[in-house]
Amino acid sequence: AEKDIDIYYKTILDLVSLAGKVVCEGFSITKRVETKESTADLVTEFDQRVEEILIKKLQEKFPTHKFIGEESTASGIKTTLSDDPTWIIDPIDGTTNFVHGFPFVAISVALAINKQVVLGVIYNPVVDYLYSAIRGKGAFKNGRPIKCSKQTELSLSQIIGEYGPTRDTHILDIKCKNLRVIIEKVHSIRAMGSAALNLCLIAEGCCDAYFEYGVHIWDYAAGDLIAREAGAYTCDPSGAPLNLVHRRILCAATKELAKQISPLLTHIDYPHD
Ligand code: IPD
Repeated sequence: AEKDIDIYYKTILDLVSLAGKVVCEGFSITKRVETKESTADLVTEFDQRVEEILIKKLQEKFPTHKFIGEESTASGIKTTLSDDPTWIIDPIDGTTNFVHGFPFVAISVALAINKQVVLGVIYNPVVDYLYSAIRGKGAFKNGRPIKCSKQTELSLSQIIGEYGPTRDTHILDIKCKNLRVIIEKVHSIRAMGSAALNLCLIAEGCCDAYFEYGVHIWDYAAGDLIAREAGAYTCDPSGAPLNLVHRRILCAATKELAKQISPLLTHIDYPHD
């Protein structure tokens, strides 16, 4: 019910603000850095601490809810997306930025009910930008409504494309090829290092499209909702409907723009989340 969503929303806003303090505490100090699936897939004690805090507090308040968290998953707790209310958490999206002190890091939290994301919150505590959306109610940055650009022309677009943490030669070759094919057709390509914030940049209209292969549900669940609530079009890079566990996304300011990008891409399949 709508009243419940409001309670969930208020609760998570308070919690990300609390978690943001922990992220800021770690931002400018030297951290203990470990690697996960590749030498460039990083995690710090702050990622783990923030995820623990969020899950613990949400569990206390909503004991029947389920959780999918980046670091819980990395530690072997695998939860699949069910119809139950499920909080999808990336405690620090942009961990590499966090490690390097590049101020493009965010706590990303989505709540899915019946496998549909009903609210999304993405908070960059370093610069104090809070992006949020409740399904059907628009997207906001620090409480003010945001709208994506109306760009329909690929040649006039600023595109975001990421390399991601994989160091697999074959996958990197395809990713580089995709960027190579796009660059000669657009104004520019950017890579900010946070999938969640990339989607917020589309939502607020300063970039026109973003695509990435290999992302996880916690990287794009909240950002997808925020971008769509700001008017953007999101889909699978193939043009098919977006699937939250298929580990790939194309988000564009307009459907026309998505349709120009999709056929240029060589698609990469990943094992699903
Ligand atoms: C990463 C960031 C990055 C993207 C990677 C993600 P993490 O998330 O979103 O932009 O290219 O695919 O893994 O590991 O910093 O939470």
